[in-house]
Amino acid sequence: MSKVYAAITGVQGYVPEDILSNEELAKIVDTSDEWITTRTGIKERRVMKNGASSDMAAKAVEGLLHKTNTDPLDIELVIVATVTPDYPFPSTANVLCDKIGMTNAWGYDLIAACSGFIYAISTAAQFIETGRYKKVVVVGVDKMTSILDYEDRTTCVIFGDGAGAVLIEPNHEGMGIQDFILRSDGSGREYLLQPAGGSVNPASIYTVENRMHYVKQEGKQVFKFAVTNMAEVSAEIMEKNNLSSDDVAWLVPHQANLRIIDATANRMGLPKEKVMINIQKYGNTTAGTLPLCLWDYEKQLKKGDNIILSAFGGGFTWGAVYIKWAYNS
Ligand code: UT7
Repeated sequence: MSKVYAAITGVQGYVPEDILSNEELAKIVDTSDEWITTRTGIKERRVMKNGASSDMAAKAVEGLLHKTNTDPLDIELVIVATVTPDYPFPSTANVLCDKIGMTNAWGYDLIAACSGFIYAISTAAQFIETGRYKKVVVVGVDKMTSILDYEDRTTCVIFGDGAGAVLIEPNHEGMGIQDFILRSDGSGREYLLQPAGGSVNPASIYTVENRMHYVKQEGKQVFKFAVTNMAEVSAEIMEKNNLSSDDVAWLVPHQANLRIIDATANRMGLPKEKVMINIQKYGNTTAGTLPLCLWDYEKQLKKGDNIILSAFGGGFTWGAVYIKWAYNS
């Protein structure tokens, strides 16, 4: 029997309608369009004014099931990558299954910050490759504005809200996830974290008064690790699979900073035309960036395209996934 591969067979994104431009942010904190554009590449980001992460996820999954002609009752497993779950518990996957009527599925949330989507699709692939499941939904979603401090110019300009979802199914033609390299180094937690709300610092008047429920980032330190590790792991997965830069059709990089994306593409020897970029319109949506890129570029993807997804984020967590794209849109 031929090997079963886990293939993405559909992708759908959702971003809220409300746009927050750099100019508008400059009225809230001491910043400028010029600083944000040159340091990050971001021009605007989306803001969800009403609703939770599960609402964005539900919009993406509804669209995904519709476009792939899939009955919600046929979904067996749902993995939601997020650092902004609806609640500490129950899981956002649990809530999402209820909202969409995926009542035969079980699911869970996966926390790996900006690497959440690559961790989640690699995990989902195992359930498909073993033959256990036929239809798995993976969502990358974050409502970053729910944990942003609009008095901290170093973080509030970077992030935005958004969701993307993919359907993963068995493929017998060799298309789908070929390989992944996933890494983690928890000693990086001091540089990028949400300090309170967990068991280290449960919510208290002290944690609220000290603004500890917001994202804290030492940008320069994170930049140093991100630029090296994302580039290295992307080159490593190419070498491991004997891929030259000509063999790679697309790099799908986490959208944290245009300079990190450029460094990764350079290390892989890829020209700009092969790099998916939408940071200018959505900013950093954490677990949402990679599926939102796939959604934006879906029409340009062809069956058999070699695609490298690559990410770096809080934890630290990082990695790369090599996919042979399974369909023409
Ligand atoms: O997605 C998860 C992983 N995260 C990342 O990969 C993010 C990695 N880090 C970065 O992308 C960059 O470090 C940032 C975009 C966050 C910051 O860019 P930078 O070039 O590293 O700036 P910096 O932190 O070194 O700050 C340079 C200056 C500082 O002023 P002084 O000390 O030189 O006077 C900051 O106070 O820029 C100042 N600054 C700002 N100025 C205007 C910081 N934020 C802002 C701002 N507007 N929003």
